[in-house]
Amino acid sequence: MYQVIARKYRPQTFSELIGQEHVRTTIENAISQRRIAHGYIFSGQRGTGKTTVARILARCLNCINGPTANPCGECASCLEVTAGNSPDVIEIDAASNRGINEMRELRENVRYRPARDRYKVFIVDEAHQITSEAFNALLKTLEEPPEWAVFILCTTEAHKVPTTIASRCQQFSFRSVDFAEVVARMEWILKQEGIEADAETLAVLAQAGEGSVRDSLSALDQAIACCGMKLSAADTRALLGMFSLDSLAQVSQALLEQDSRRMLDVVMELERNGRNLQHFCRELARYFRNLLVVKVAGVNTRLIAATPQEQERLAEIAAPFAEEDLTRYLQITLDVFKDLQVSLQPRLHLEIGLLKLVQAGRLTGIEEELARLGGENPGGGIPKPVAAKPAAGRIPAAAPPPPVSLPPAPAPIQASGDLRDRLHAALTELGMMFTADALEHSQVIEKAGELQFVTTVEFKLAMDPKELQKAVQHTLGRQMKITVSVGEPEVSASPPAKPKASNDDETTERALSHPEVKRFREKFPDAHVRAVRNLKE
Ligand SMILES: Nc1ncnc2c1ncn2[C@@H]1O[C@H](COP(=O)(O)OP(=O)(O)O)[C@@H](O)[C@H]1O
Ligand SMILES: [Mg+2]
Ligand SMILES: [Zn+2]
Repeated sequence: MYQVIARKYRPQTFSELIGQEHVRTTIENAISQRRIAHGYIFSGQRGTGKTTVARILARCLNCINGPTANPCGECASCLEVTAGNSPDVIEIDAASNRGINEMRELRENVRYRPARDRYKVFIVDEAHQITSEAFNALLKTLEEPPEWAVFILCTTEAHKVPTTIASRCQQFSFRSVDFAEVVARMEWILKQEGIEADAETLAVLAQAGEGSVRDSLSALDQAIACCGMKLSAADTRALLGMFSLDSLAQVSQALLEQDSRRMLDVVMELERNGRNLQHFCRELARYFRNLLVVKVAGVNTRLIAATPQEQERLAEIAAPFAEEDLTRYLQITLDVFKDLQVSLQPRLHLEIGLLKLVQAGRLTGIEEELARLGGENPGGGIPKPVAAKPAAGRIPAAAPPPPVSLPPAPAPIQASGDLRDRLHAALTELGMMFTADALEHSQVIEKAGELQFVTTVEFKLAMDPKELQKAVQHTLGRQMKITVSVGEPEVSASPPAKPKASNDDETTERALSHPEVKRFREKFPDAHVRAVRNLKE
């Protein structure tokens, strides 16, 4: 029977574990000092070793030579824990039906001494899903634990474990595992399996796991199923929906050359090869993120899942771009990725997104232009806004950048002014004129998924929550929690027509009063400021 690699190579001792040194050391010390807690919480990303360490700990506690940090692996207890049938190591999956029943019986069960071993170890997986009834039972037990009871709660969502429980447990957070360590582990496993793979392929697999060892090993399983005994990077990438640095670099090259045409070619190529556009966009976001990180942190950083060669290459690609450029590209790409997930026309969305990237690049052109203006005006005493950049090929020489008309930003839905206008329109359309009227004198604040309407005493009565709810449903296609309160609403002078939230007004004001912008506007008196976007947001 084929056993999946993640299972077959589950570490049986601490020495096989990769990463999580902090967990390992603390537990080893606790064991050697015989200071074993009754409750542990293992939290962190999936596939990083929580269940694995829970089982290793169980072996440490119950090995015939134990408690020991080096369980023998040969005694009945060790063998049974590995096989998952030890009478005294009880694994419960709190997410399953069976688990719910088992948790119910736990309070009974825990009272009886271990059948054979020193400790009775309860490993509870997906512990955040325990019912509140079971949490209560657990709490009672943890308040007065029998000397032999040890609970290990594993969860990806530690914050969902009640504090009453958490405060009685030792907590360990498992970290995502470093790229290089995952690569080394897979290299070792492949050697055991007699399968060949080059460094590039290993890198692809390690990247695919995003710090989860299990996910990388599952990807490895797939690659073996697909490629056989000799894995290739290209096949593995295609299989996992990943893209080579070369293919992603086409996008940054097009940006460098401000070449919209080339962007469209990229999409055409993807379509022709039947590649998944959503995957591409996700990879592109990761690519920009990596460029940004090498730019900020330099090469040889553990912050990037990439080989040293790939990091060098990323650094080269990132060199002509400014940090702000890359940040903007990343933001736009993430937005496009979000759009693509619900889009019925992914190709169109991706094309628009890539063209937006090209346009966004011109923003820097303006900054450079401003810097140049600064040079024409010596003695102005104004510091240059941007560090000079190696801009070879950056700006098409013939085409002057457009005046301060920044590319229109996608309208943020959460901007309260904008939402208010839309609600106003909906109320008008629905014939709810009193409420519409009152809304003009009210402020809308969106906070934690809730809509707060602040209005004045006079309009409080007219602000009918039911009608507001209808307008919300009409506008957003869903209901939201609504509160109407009396206060001092910040209302703009010409309410419904005003497109910007007060926050944006402030940004606009700040931008327009910037000396460089002022000078630019003097220089180009016909220039027209269409929109101002705060890039830090
Ligand atoms: N830190 C690690 N070191 C070595 N292998 C690991 C590690 N974390 C996970 N694995 C591999 O992934 C598989 C699943 O790990 P597991 O401990 O069940 O993850 P979790 O409980 O955190 O979701 C293991 O069988 C093992 O092969
Ligand atoms: Mg687990
Ligand atoms: Zn043993």
